[in-house]
Amino acid sequence: MCGIVAAVSARNIVSVLVEGLRRLEYRGYDSCGVAVHQGGGLRRARSTARVAELAANVAAEGLEGGTGIAHTRWATHGAPVVHNAHPHFSHGPGPAAAPRSADASADGGEASGLAGADRIGLVHNGIIENHDELRAELQAKGYEFVTQTDTEVIAHLVDHLNDGDLLEAVQRALPRLRGAYAIAVISRDEPQRVIGARHGSPLVLGVGAVAGASENFLASDAMALAGVTDQIVYLEEGDVVDLQLGKYWISHADAKGDFRRVERSVRTVVAHTGAAELGPYRHYMQKEIFEQPKAIADTLDAVHGVSPELFGDGAYRVFKEIDSVLILACGTSFYSGSVAKYWLESMAKIPTSVEVASEYRYRDSVPNPRTLVVTISQSGETADTLAALKHARSLGMAHTLTVCNVATSAMVRECAMAYITRAGVEIGVASTKAFTTQLVGLFLLTLALAQVRGRLDDAQEAQHLKSLRHLPVAVQAVLALEPQIIAWSEEFASKENALFLGRGMHYPVALEGALKLKEISYIHAEAYPAGELKHGPLALVTAQMPVVAIAPNDALLEKLESNLHEVRARGGELFVFADSDTRIRSGEGVRVIRMPEHYGALSPILHVVPLQLLAYHTAVARGTDVDKPRNLAKSVTVE
Ligand code: M6R
Repeated sequence: MCGIVAAVSARNIVSVLVEGLRRLEYRGYDSCGVAVHQGGGLRRARSTARVAELAANVAAEGLEGGTGIAHTRWATHGAPVVHNAHPHFSHGPGPAAAPRSADASADGGEASGLAGADRIGLVHNGIIENHDELRAELQAKGYEFVTQTDTEVIAHLVDHLNDGDLLEAVQRALPRLRGAYAIAVISRDEPQRVIGARHGSPLVLGVGAVAGASENFLASDAMALAGVTDQIVYLEEGDVVDLQLGKYWISHADAKGDFRRVERSVRTVVAHTGAAELGPYRHYMQKEIFEQPKAIADTLDAVHGVSPELFGDGAYRVFKEIDSVLILACGTSFYSGSVAKYWLESMAKIPTSVEVASEYRYRDSVPNPRTLVVTISQSGETADTLAALKHARSLGMAHTLTVCNVATSAMVRECAMAYITRAGVEIGVASTKAFTTQLVGLFLLTLALAQVRGRLDDAQEAQHLKSLRHLPVAVQAVLALEPQIIAWSEEFASKENALFLGRGMHYPVALEGALKLKEISYIHAEAYPAGELKHGPLALVTAQMPVVAIAPNDALLEKLESNLHEVRARGGELFVFADSDTRIRSGEGVRVIRMPEHYGALSPILHVVPLQLLAYHTAVARGTDVDKPRNLAKSVTVE
């Protein structure tokens, strides 16, 4: 999703800004741009193509300067076209002085000529909810709007409030904004200054030095600054930062709204570079599916036994006190939480509810201060999950724990306890290894809660740990099924609909399989608990509708087999992933891929893998952009 990079330096910083955008590319975007202070004015280049194209425009146009802002945009308000791409400029009230910026949207790119008229340049992540109201107000003051974005109002508002000190102008503008934002702002009249602010969207300050001269950066993710600086300040909600050459100050509004200087600690952060090599794989998603044995082994590496302390120092006391679990998450993380509900209720006997974060935050619920609130997130930056967490806390639920893949993320900082999965950087928009490692973390949480509640004896603990440790080998065996799955995917590639069925804790796995298929192959896919078939979805079943069934050898197998007969009786084509110790066999209209023997409670971790491969190879056969599917972003940092 949207990304910000900004800098104040004595050297030409353009290549650093563009490289920062490149590092953020995997998060998903549909346009990008950079603006610098050059020759007494603001110049910019923007593109609806990839960052590589922007880099070429920047070089061709000779953009250079030590102070600049850059952005990748994922469109929310206004189509992904060049004139809506950031940075946005304000030239003050009155009509645009032509030719202020020579839009050449036909080729997907634009670079401005020297533009002394533009006074403010701005990039923004997030959404300004009262943009209509502000737009009307600024139009009445003579500001002309040239984009359909919510962001342009901030540029004009800052311009309107600017009496010659950019910091003060931004500080005056912020109380007028409703919604979520991280911004970086430059002014034509202050060539060595960038003002940043955050409220609801992440922003970090990078403190750097080159050839003995210090330089400062802003970025929406420390990863954008990898290779430039590892000295990072995580700005807090409401912080405003004033970046100047070789110095910076952070301020924060007090209860009366007056800004006061504050100190924030500088941390050394080893950010991943995002430059993971593809190796023998065609796409990152394929690579990440095949990395799962290692990701699971790494996630288990520091686990020498089951203990609450795996989740943080005070965990034992909290686990003793709580009487229920509330899981908050989105997308794939919501489905891992949904699997965990089965574990937590059957093994730890603790009442558990799982809520889609974007719904929970807005509904009236009944808070229970003795609930353990568990957020699940690969990125740790998902706006809806962060907001749901804050909502839960505001209702008096103070026991918070996250299962998260990014140790430096806002989610980990905001939660009292954490289990960090060690999936490594996940670049493909479709989440794969994050899901299976989340399940490992959630299974350990189940065991720890069961232990504290007297429901796990030493023999059971040893048996579960043995199964967990064997998982990498078991997943490897499932990955070896790839050739058979490729054969199926060739048939799926010509379909427009698919149905996924599972029962019990494999129902969320079916949901995850359907999500994978739809997000990367664009085939409409739905998932149902198989027992629900005859209550409606059976009406959809024809020979044109492939029905994927997850058939573990568990207590519900016979029930599932009956449901599969119902499908066959209506001419439906079945594609069944069946444990090898079941009696399900291939036959007319029934194709079976045999999984390893049933893997007990951990079976969802094995059964999701062929569904990932099926989605991947179907998407490849359909020729979609597997790692960056249309309309989607890796990190969903806006509501
Ligand atoms: O980073 P998070 O785990 O919080 O992200 C949540 C969802 O946005 C994410 O799982 C999304 O559904 C994936 N694209 C699914 O593959």
